[in-house]
Amino acid sequence: MKLFDVYPLYNVTPVKAKGIEVWDDKGEKYLDFYGGHAVISIGHTHPHYVKRIKEQLDQMAFYSNSVQNPLQEALAQKLGDLSGCENYDLFMCNSGAEANENALKMASFHTGNSKVIAFTNSFHGRTSAAVAATDNPSINAPINKQQEVTFLPLNDFDAFEKAIESDEYCTVILEAIQGVGGLDEPTTEFFQLIAKKCKEHNVVLIADEVQSGYGRSGKFFAFQHHGIEPDIISIAKGMGNGFPVGGILIHEKFKPSYGLLGTTFGGNHLACAASLAVLEVLESENLIENASELGAYFREKAAEIPEIKKVKGRGLMIGLEFDFEVADLRKKMILEQHMFTGSAKNKKLLRFLPALNITKEDIDLFFEALKKAL
Ligand SMILES: Cc1ncc(COP(=O)(O)O)c(C=O)c1O
Repeated sequence: MKLFDVYPLYNVTPVKAKGIEVWDDKGEKYLDFYGGHAVISIGHTHPHYVKRIKEQLDQMAFYSNSVQNPLQEALAQKLGDLSGCENYDLFMCNSGAEANENALKMASFHTGNSKVIAFTNSFHGRTSAAVAATDNPSINAPINKQQEVTFLPLNDFDAFEKAIESDEYCTVILEAIQGVGGLDEPTTEFFQLIAKKCKEHNVVLIADEVQSGYGRSGKFFAFQHHGIEPDIISIAKGMGNGFPVGGILIHEKFKPSYGLLGTTFGGNHLACAASLAVLEVLESENLIENASELGAYFREKAAEIPEIKKVKGRGLMIGLEFDFEVADLRKKMILEQHMFTGSAKNKKLLRFLPALNITKEDIDLFFEALKKAL
């Protein structure tokens, strides 16, 4: 059997990693400023993370959601404490798409409606309703197109007010900082208008924090830069530092009932151990503050490079915009400078999504390499 060929691959084979350092099968070292697409939050093979997962594996890897699992409760408690979202309940699943799928389903259950408002250049995953709310027709199959989604331009106050007045929608879903789309953000005024109108019209506000959450923006959640409170928050990526895990934080005003949501693997013991380890390291190493401080340092350094036309994003969720397409630059960064970076739907944007415990020296190395590659 061969692999179903859907990924255009760089010719690099990583076999070992520590912190932001990655080694390939020939022993060549790379620096990871991409974090495997914003997934690596506390660094590859962090010792506390490895220890916790190994210890859990020795105890028990999995049991289903038909028995008590104190690890899930410990995780919910810790996540509430660290994020400041104590007034939400946690439902665990396995990926970002699945988190959004459950969030959209909850919104529809809650309101009895089915139409969705999403935004231009959004990315919410590849499953049924999540992909329908993703602004990319090429990954929407006819079966997904049955969902009714209205895409509005980000920060278009009039278009938003007109749409929501129709009272046909169950939810507004948005990323506080767009990831795949290219680091555009709603303004605080726009986000606050959305929150206010959602309340007035009994529409569920979903903040997709799959990429921007877990400290990456310099606050636990990126919506927290805007003084709003979503109804549902979806999480994944940095939550497990590479262990596949996702979830939704559901405001306590939503009442659960048995069987309303469910999953076989979601919230399994290993996933909880990985997720607890991530939160423990975020806290003990002050990584959210580090993301904020190092994000500011990164911007200072970026300002010294004339080819960079714009720096987008917050904290360590950053996009560098050039006046040319960056595919060749990204290739040079990997193959010649041995540094992983990311791309976006906006082809002129190079993305910087490192682990949150990088140092100023790491950023200096990045800019030295970038200058050479330019
Ligand atoms: C904002 C956002 N939401 C959802 C997803 C989907 O997550 P997953 O690939 O884990 O299904 C992604 C993935 O890139 C994302 O960036």
